Amino acid sequence: MLKNKQVGFLGSGNMGEALIHGLLHSHLCRPEQILCSDVRPERLKAIREKYGVKGTSHNPEVVKQSDIIVLAVKPQIMKQVVEEVAKYLDLSKLIISIAAGVPLDAIESCARKELKLIRVMPNICVSVREGVSAIAGGKHASKEDLIAAKTIFDSVGKSIIIEEYLLDAVTGLSGSGPAYIFLIIDALADAGVKVGLSRSDALILASQTVLGAAKMLIETGEHPGKLKDMVTSPGGTAIAGLHTLEEGGLRTTLINAVEVATQRSKVLGEIIKNNLTNEKA
Ligand SMILES: NC(=O)c1ccc[n+]([C@@H]2O[C@H](COP(=O)([O-])OP(=O)(O)OC[C@H]3O[C@@H](n4cnc5c(N)ncnc54)[C@H](OP(=O)(O)O)[C@@H]3O)[C@@H](O)[C@H]2O)c1
Repeated sequence: MLKNKQVGFLGSGNMGEALIHGLLHSHLCRPEQILCSDVRPERLKAIREKYGVKGTSHNPEVVKQSDIIVLAVKPQIMKQVVEEVAKYLDLSKLIISIAAGVPLDAIESCARKELKLIRVMPNICVSVREGVSAIAGGKHASKEDLIAAKTIFDSVGKSIIIEEYLLDAVTGLSGSGPAYIFLIIDALADAGVKVGLSRSDALILASQTVLGAAKMLIETGEHPGKLKDMVTSPGGTAIAGLHTLEEGGLRTTLINAVEVATQRSKVLGEIIKNNLTNEKA
């Protein structure tokens, strides 16, 4: 799928690097198929040396040489970057934006032309190739383009294809989700310390428990309720703990957290969209 394609990255920060790593690690691309840019020369040098890919400080060069272009700069400088390269963009190139909260129509409006666009909401776990990404195609993106995007993001975890309007919900769940899980693991480790374990042992036990439970769920394909029932024996320890969690409102608290983060994503998206539109006027 990506065998004969040149893949360009505008912005080679955390996410850019994670995707470059994923593409090379899964042998989807050879280093010479990847060209990345950044404003920081030391960053480019480090990426070039680590992965053997090509690097430039000149964004238009990336666009000119690439079939697929990943926009991996911060949302607040998206307008500046898109305007800088717009001249070299056309419908033959697939543009994938990972900028949180930047709608596809805002990118077209910055470029002042119709583009073949895909918007993706990944999460930070792409850095350890266990991310999850939601992919939404713009009006000119074909099924093949969506498959190409899916191939790229599957190299750093898993991905799903959805409609763009659902990306705020994705941001509230999996985009912000690593923070929730870090908090839960930290709290479990605190609990371990409270009942007499060392901090380091408690952290290993808590984090591996979360990893193992997620893996078991994914590998068995069973409903989480069924697995919960499996580990809950009559009058045992797990049901006593679960009772306390329900009493503390864990389920409702998590639902509320995702809902409020989704609303916040909508608000921030509106601010970003207004900024892009107002600056243009
Ligand atoms: N990190 C996440 O968990 C996450 C999750 C989902 C989506 N995203 C999205 O992914 C995008 C990238 O995030 P990130 O965490 O990788 O950010 P990052 O680490 O700051 O990477 C962006 C890179 O682009 C560079 N840059 C700044 N201006 C540039 C320009 N004009 N041309 C080329 N490069 C330029 C930055 O340099 P300076 O540092 O000098 O500015 C930085 O090295 C963002 O839009 C973010 O919303 C991130």
